Amino acid sequence: MKMPVDWFWTVFLGCAFLCAALALFFFSATRGALLLRSARGTSGAELAHVYPLYSNRWLIRLVDFQPLISAILLFQYHRLVSAITADMRKLDLRDKEVLITSCAFGNVIRRVVEAAFESGARRVLIADLIKNELDHARSKLQGIPGQLEFLEENATAMQQADNSVQVNLIFFLLHELPHPLKARVLSEAGRVLAPGGTLYLAEFSRPELSLLRGLSWAYFKVFEPLGLALWHSHQPLKQLDAIGGFTCQRKTYFFGNFQIIAATKNGLI
Ligand SMILES: C[S@@+](CC[C@H](N)C(=O)[O-])C[C@H]1O[C@@H](n2cnc3c(N)ncnc32)[C@H](O)[C@@H]1O
Repeated sequence: MKMPVDWFWTVFLGCAFLCAALALFFFSATRGALLLRSARGTSGAELAHVYPLYSNRWLIRLVDFQPLISAILLFQYHRLVSAITADMRKLDLRDKEVLITSCAFGNVIRRVVEAAFESGARRVLIADLIKNELDHARSKLQGIPGQLEFLEENATAMQQADNSVQVNLIFFLLHELPHPLKARVLSEAGRVLAPGGTLYLAEFSRPELSLLRGLSWAYFKVFEPLGLALWHSHQPLKQLDAIGGFTCQRKTYFFGNFQIIAATKNGLI
């Protein structure tokens, strides 16, 4: 009679320990490191908001494991990426350029690049503030035929000309940015987009279910406090409206926890 109870506690405590260790690891590689930077007074620099998880190449490689990344997005990753790529495949991108503004874990970049070339894109640009992220993205895109360019750039001040890209994808970047940068990134995204072009924005949003909302709130409070503003003061749709010049379609996923906005730039001649 004693054995099953022992087993139960061993498994339970083992799982609890694993979850706590994972949470501690993520906290140290994300918000914990930012708090430390701010305590040291080094938080004013351009890269200050970027987690070590994205700047240290060993951490990038360690964490970029598809099942883990899917789990972080509550197993909606595939669904979100598929929604974007399915839409992109309907576009005529012949002789056009596609921009991916900031790298992301998992296979999103590869799938978006494939969809872009299948729709005829001439060139895909991948821009990120961190060189290690670009090197990692390059390693994940081996063997893809087509013109790819990797650019070390700040999404708040892109080097691309006005109206130069037909598609721009921003995948889960906004929630990590300090609030003033959120609007600047969106406004830059609009500037470089050609009239008639589409900005795809994948992000968290305010869940409809109160239980999920509570859990999500706790997650943001602990790990990513800059993300909560997407629920209220810095809702992407409101920000795009304020910038003006877009026609937006917004779809939510998983009880409203995630959103994809397809913002088409007005003024097609
Ligand atoms: C897109 S976000 C996070 C994505 C999400 N957590 C994931 O991996 O699925 C992470 C990337 O944004 C980049 N990044 C952060 N701030 C940036 C900025 N101002 N300009 C360009 N890239 C930026 C980071 O270097 C990192 O590669």
